[in-house]
Amino acid sequence: MRLIKKESSAKIHKMFPIPFEEILAKIKAELTDLKSNGKVATYIPELAKVSPDFFGMHIFTTDERDFSFGDNTTVFSIQSISKVFTLAVCLSVVGEKLFDRVGVEPSGNAFNSIVQLEKEKGIPRNPFINPGALVMADILLSTLKNPYEDYLNFIRKITDNENIVSSERVANSEFETGFMNASLVNFLKYHGNINNDVEEVLKFYYFHCAFELSCRDLAHAFKAFADHEEIFEFGEVKLSKTLVKRVNSIMQTCGFYDEAGEFAYKVGLPGKSGVGGGIVAVHPLFYSVAVWSPPLNEKGNSVKGMMALERLTALTGNSIF
Ligand code: DON
Repeated sequence: MRLIKKESSAKIHKMFPIPFEEILAKIKAELTDLKSNGKVATYIPELAKVSPDFFGMHIFTTDERDFSFGDNTTVFSIQSISKVFTLAVCLSVVGEKLFDRVGVEPSGNAFNSIVQLEKEKGIPRNPFINPGALVMADILLSTLKNPYEDYLNFIRKITDNENIVSSERVANSEFETGFMNASLVNFLKYHGNINNDVEEVLKFYYFHCAFELSCRDLAHAFKAFADHEEIFEFGEVKLSKTLVKRVNSIMQTCGFYDEAGEFAYKVGLPGKSGVGGGIVAVHPLFYSVAVWSPPLNEKGNSVKGMMALERLTALTGNSIF
C-alpha cells in the first residue's frame, strides 16, 4: 500500500489533465437508462437473483483521486475478475514455472471450452480461461501455507478493505451446478496437470470467484496494476514492475476470451471481465477503473460495462494505443 505520495503520478496528471468528473457525468447520463439485450448470468443459480438494473462505475487515479457514479459501493460477485488476483499470487510464489503448466496465448474460445484443452493435451491456453484458472487454484493449494486464509488476507490488503468476504452461498451454488468445470478439472487431472484432489481444487476455485467487491474496491485494488511507481508487497506476494507488465499484457490479450479483440479495438485498455457483470481495466500510469452492470452479452461480458469503457477512452481521447 502507498505510504508516501509519489511525485511522478501527480506530474503525469498535471501534464495530461483528464476531466474525469465531467466524463463520468456524461457516461452516466448516456447509459443509465439504456435498455440492452443483455441477460444476467443464470448458470450459477445465485447470480440469477441479481437485479439487472445495477449500474456503477469508479475510477481511482494513480495520484489517488476517486471519481464515481451509481452503484459504485455496492458489492457484487467478481467471478473471473478474481483470476487476475490468482495470477498475480501464482507468479509471485512460483514465478515463470507457472508457464510449464499453462500458456499465454489468447484462446479465441469461450471461457469454459473443453475442445481446445483436448487438442492441447491438458495445457490450458492461458490463465484466464477456466482450465487455466483451475490449474492456478491447484498451484495455490499446493504452495500457500493456509490457502483460504492467506488468499483472503491478500484480497483485503490489496483492496485496503478489511470487510471483504467470499460468499459461501455463491460458491456452493456453483459447486452444486458446475458440471463443466468438474469435467475440465477431471480432464486436466487425466493429463497430469492437477496435483490435488479435484473437489478440493474446485472448492478453492469457487471460493476465489465468489469474492464480493464493489467497483470502488476493484478500482482501488487494481491501482497496483496501473501505478508503475509503487510496488505492492504483502507476505509472499510482490507485484514487481515485470510482474505487473506480464499480468497487464495477459489481460490485454486474454481478458475477454473470444471477445478480447473487440475489447482491445473498442476500449484499448488491458482489462478483465466476470460473469457477475463487472469489468475492471487499467490505464497504466493514469488510473484503474471498474464498472458493473449485470446483463451480459453472449460471450459472457457486461454489455453496458463494455459500452461505458468504450465511452471512457473515447471521451478522454486516451488509451494505451
Ligand atoms: O467458472 C465459472 O464459470 C465462473 N465461476 C467464472 C466465469 C467468468 O466469470 C467468466 N467471465 N466472464
